[in-house]
Amino acid sequence: MQDQAEKLRQLVRGRQSSRGAIIKQPGLQARVITVTSGKGGVGKTNLTVNLALALANMGQRVLILDADLGLANVELILGCTPRYNLLNLLEDGYSIEDIIVDGPRGVKFVSGGSGLCELADLSEAQLQKIINQVVLFDRWATVILVDTGAGIHQSVLSFVLAADEVLVVTTPEPTAIADAYALMKAYSSNHGRLPLKLVVNRVTDMVEGQLVTDKLTKVAERFLGLPIESLGFIHEDPSVMRAVKSQKPLILAQPDSLAARSIEHLAQKLLYGKEFSTATGIRGFINKFLQIMQ
Ligand SMILES: Nc1ncnc2c1ncn2[C@@H]1O[C@H](COP(=O)(O)OP(=O)(O)OP(=O)(O)O)[C@@H](O)[C@H]1O
Ligand SMILES: [Mg+2]
Repeated sequence: MQDQAEKLRQLVRGRQSSRGAIIKQPGLQARVITVTSGKGGVGKTNLTVNLALALANMGQRVLILDADLGLANVELILGCTPRYNLLNLLEDGYSIEDIIVDGPRGVKFVSGGSGLCELADLSEAQLQKIINQVVLFDRWATVILVDTGAGIHQSVLSFVLAADEVLVVTTPEPTAIADAYALMKAYSSNHGRLPLKLVVNRVTDMVEGQLVTDKLTKVAERFLGLPIESLGFIHEDPSVMRAVKSQKPLILAQPDSLAARSIEHLAQKLLYGKEFSTATGIRGFINKFLQIMQ
């Protein structure tokens, strides 16, 4: 098992020397940011898609990787549907262009689907085939947003542990807060050490958002020794549901809505706020993911 894991790691690293063309300058890898939550339905996918569009508007080249193994919701919210997913790269005649879909504002979208989890079970040759293509994401993207399902299952946790940065989404509901804490606990007990960035969605006002943030920050620091950074709040706003129904991203459909403006603000904080940890790109992400899944 250990041998297999090491082989996979070498495979991911190995591409650097065998194909000079895909080497990036150090520090130029995409920031891989996983968006996750303890409880389901708290607004991860909406945040991912609209954050991507906000970041694109600020000059970033953004790629969304849908890693929700159950429901492929990104396509509904972004309003474009990929015909293929990562696993199609195993078949002859498919290349990265076939699985990338162009969304609004040049945001690119790739459906990982169940394919992402199956990476760890593939043979070396199969994995190599996928990696040869996927590392090209790093060439193009400056930010890769990974939308996950909810909860603390191994697969979700692996995407969280493999990321350069993690956004944890919660709402002010006590169950969502409790589940966010459970996720932080699972992250910390799996040796996750990065400061998690907290987003409180569906707040009625800033005071409510701050209360939730203070509560989670206090318990995470006290009981887990885990630093939490507040990325901000998103207002409860009926425009979100209207946008979902019309299958047009909120930021495009109703840019002046409260929720859209909250998300623009989050994007600014993400881009110009506190210094972020080293970006390791999609290569680093897959490398760490494979180590964790072994
Ligand atoms: N700020 C908000 N104001 C009002 N409603 C919201 C807001 N954010 C999300 N919602 C509602 O919550 C629903 C679920 O959002 P979303 O699909 O983004 O959640 P999710 O966390 O990705 O869910 P899952 O865990 O199933 O992937 C949306 O369709 C919308 O109706
Ligand atoms: Mg979702």
